[in-house]
Amino acid sequence: MVGQVLDPAREIQDDHKKARDAYFDFIKAIDGHDSRQAKDIFNILDAVMGPHWKWEEESLYLAVKAHLSEDLYTSLMKEHDECIEAMQKLAAIFKKWRISDADWAQAKKLAVPILYHIATCDGLPIMMERLGEQELWDLRQAIFASRREAIPLLEWAAKLRKR
Ligand SMILES: [Fe+2]
Repeated sequence: MVGQVLDPAREIQDDHKKARDAYFDFIKAIDGHDSRQAKDIFNILDAVMGPHWKWEEESLYLAVKAHLSEDLYTSLMKEHDECIEAMQKLAAIFKKWRISDADWAQAKKLAVPILYHIATCDGLPIMMERLGEQELWDLRQAIFASRREAIPLLEWAAKLRKR
């Protein structure tokens, strides 16, 4: 829908809730050694996180850096680096024909930074209240564009991410 008006603070929180619920379902699947369920949820996380993170790194985090805090920007980007590395390792585990007990234990550990980042990143709507109208308008345009592209996280990280 061209011209659709999205509230970036609300959109970011909706994504975080989807990621939060997927995370806890993911842990349940890992605890139950349910590879089909774990792979399905991993793919949901990859799909939800892709457009969200592209938008954050190309728009929101840059606005945080330029107008609010370079330290917060650096910290958020470090969390993204850790989560991407974890997602890449999780992808390698779920590509295996047989997932061992050690793999399941590692998968559970690898998922932790994702939960932490959801908690950190969900603090950003209160920071966004400090941005100006123009910045918020630009964020609305950017989130719409990123959703439309719908690039999964690992594909974006491998091919497009500038870092
Ligand atoms: Fe986020």
